[in-house]
Amino acid sequence: MKKILFLLLLIGLISLTYMCSLDQQPPQPEQPPQEEPDPVVVEPEPEPEPEPEPEPEPEPEPEPEPEPEPEPKPEPEPEPEPPEKDNEFMVNLPLDDPSLRLYKGVVDPRSVDPHTLTEVDITSVVNKFNILPWEYAPTDLVDINANGVGGMLLRREAAEAWEQWRVDALNDGYTVLAVSSYRSRDYQATLFNNYLANHGDEAVLWSAYPRRSEHETGLVVDLSNSWSIPGEGFIDTPMGQYLAETAHNYGFILRYPKGYEGDTGYTFEPWHYRYVGKEIAQKMQQEDIPTLEHYYYLTVEQQK
Ligand code: DAL
Ligand code: ZN
Repeated sequence: MKKILFLLLLIGLISLTYMCSLDQQPPQPEQPPQEEPDPVVVEPEPEPEPEPEPEPEPEPEPEPEPEPEPEPKPEPEPEPEPPEKDNEFMVNLPLDDPSLRLYKGVVDPRSVDPHTLTEVDITSVVNKFNILPWEYAPTDLVDINANGVGGMLLRREAAEAWEQWRVDALNDGYTVLAVSSYRSRDYQATLFNNYLANHGDEAVLWSAYPRRSEHETGLVVDLSNSWSIPGEGFIDTPMGQYLAETAHNYGFILRYPKGYEGDTGYTFEPWHYRYVGKEIAQKMQQEDIPTLEHYYYLTVEQQK
C-alpha cells in the first residue's frame, strides 16, 4: 500500500515539474515570413576594345661621340701665402719701372695697375697703388664741428679725435677750420676731372684719381686758418706749425710731407691730415717715420 502511495506521489511530482517547465518558456515572437529577394542581374561590362599600340618610332642611332682628348693636367700652382693683413700686402712704389709714366717724379695714377684693398680700416694705406673697392663707402660718418664750415663728415672715431684736437687748439688760441673732409667717389671724380681739365696732367701731383683719395675713407680732414685750402706756406704759420707738432697726440699724421713726393705720389700738403689712430701716429713721430708708405713698406734705404 505504502509503495503504491509512494509511486503515486512520485508520478504526481514528475507531472508537476513538467507542467512548470512549460509555463516558463517565453512566447516566441512571430517571425515574418522571409521574402526571397529578387536576384540582381548584373550585366557584364563589355570588355574595352584594346587601343591599338602605336608603332614605336625607331630610335635614331646615336652618333658616336668622338673620344675627348685627355686634357693635359696643369701643374698645380703653389698657393700664395695669404697676407696677414691688407696693409702688409703692399706694392712698392715702382718708381724705377720704365712702364710707369712719371710726371715730375710722381707716378701718374692712370698708368698704374693697382691693388684693390679687400678690407678697409683706420690703418689702411690708400694711395696710387692701393685703392678702395669700387663700392666702398664708410658707414659710420658723422657731422663734425668745423668751426663754421658746414657739411663736413668724418668716420666716428676720426671725428671724436678731431673734436678733441679742435677744442684743445681753441684753448691754445687757434680757431682751426676744417675745409674738406669726407668725399664720395663721385665727388672725388668730379674734382679730379675739373683739375685735369683746368691744369692738364699736372693735376696728378695734387689730386687723387677716384678710389685713390684718402678723403674717400672718411679719415682725412683738410685744415686751414681761412675758408679755403691754404698754400704750402701754411706750414710756416703759427697754426700750421702747431698742427704739425700736435697731430700725433690725437692720432693724426701730416700725410704728404715735403721731400717725399716720390713716395707718397703727391706734392707737399701741410693742410691734409689723416687719422690712423694714436698707436701708429705716435710711433711714426717717435721713430721719425716720414710717411705711411715708409711705416708699412718702404725701407729707410729707399728714402730720398
Ligand atoms: N689732395 C689729395 C691727394 C687728394 O685728392 O686726396
Ligand atoms: Zn686733403
